[in-house]
Amino acid sequence: AFTPRVFSGIQPSGGLTLGNYLGALKRFADTQNKGIESIYCMVDLHAITVWQDPAKLAHATRELCAGFIASGIDPEKSILFNQSQVPEHAQLAWIFNCVARMGWMKRMTQWKDKAGKNQENASLGLFAYPALMAADILLYHATHVPVGEDQKQHLELTRDIAIKFNNDFGVEFFPVTEPVIEGAATRVMSLRDGSKKMSKSDPSDMSRINLTDDADAIATKIRKAKTDPEALPSEVDGLEGRPEARNLVNIYAALSDQTVEQVLADVGGKQFSEFKPMLSELAVTKMTPISTEMARLMQHQDEIDAILRRGSERAREIASPILAKTYEIVGM
Ligand code: ADP
Ligand code: NA
Repeated sequence: AFTPRVFSGIQPSGGLTLGNYLGALKRFADTQNKGIESIYCMVDLHAITVWQDPAKLAHATRELCAGFIASGIDPEKSILFNQSQVPEHAQLAWIFNCVARMGWMKRMTQWKDKAGKNQENASLGLFAYPALMAADILLYHATHVPVGEDQKQHLELTRDIAIKFNNDFGVEFFPVTEPVIEGAATRVMSLRDGSKKMSKSDPSDMSRINLTDDADAIATKIRKAKTDPEALPSEVDGLEGRPEARNLVNIYAALSDQTVEQVLADVGGKQFSEFKPMLSELAVTKMTPISTEMARLMQHQDEIDAILRRGSERAREIASPILAKTYEIVGM
């Protein structure tokens, strides 16, 4: 009974990677281009659950917005905005803090990973992060959320919160949102270690391709990417137990809009010495126009600010009546 509507967010915590691009941004652009109403958020309230230098946060938010636009998200078609500018996110998050249970939060692997051994010293916000994420999504009655695999558990928690709210108050008010985790690159791995996800927080810059990398940097990182000595298989089964090979083939498939099967049908039998230059050329062709466009947009920060302001106004038009109705349901 809910109209299809897509919501997703990315943290302005500095630097976007090929993982963010293939797992999120590129898929957002594809979704928008299918004509589905889409709302994309720079989630600065999430970013500050771990320390962010105030002098860098505003810059990171603008750069992220530039990354969205350079990746093909059109601010006229989609809503692009900054989470802290729509106070309804924090307001609904409080309600959800009172719906979600401590035990649910304690099971979140991201909480366990990010808080590490010193949970007593982690911020309360880091613990409550998934309730804010549920608020982000449900504030728009979003039915679908495109994300990478790392966000699957948080999406399940969003569904649990919607179901519990609806049950507690005897309403069918919030949709039970579907995660959309599809395509060849929902989990892009480190170029140095096939067991770790590619991440901006990895200390080794060689482990990732940044959206701001130039052609030389991209080529060097792919040339030095860890591989194994075998030739590429011609069928998917042959990637079993070869995480680095699988990762490079996944990246090739996602960048060229092919399935892994299609790619292997072409490159099966080739050595990495032959495949890596192909991947490198493809990555440079697809990624350098994005970094060039990001750099150009960053020369016009007032335009970026105007886009985010306008996006926040449009977002509030949807969010505000949904929050008002939520308060009414709760009896406030
Ligand atoms: P990060 O994980 O880089 O700190 P976010 O938490 O803001 O960034 O995630 C933004 C989006 O990018 C999410 O949809 C997330 O699933 C996706 N994402 C992040 N890293 C990867 C990766 N290595 N592979 C695929 N998707 C990823
Ligand atoms: Na993440």
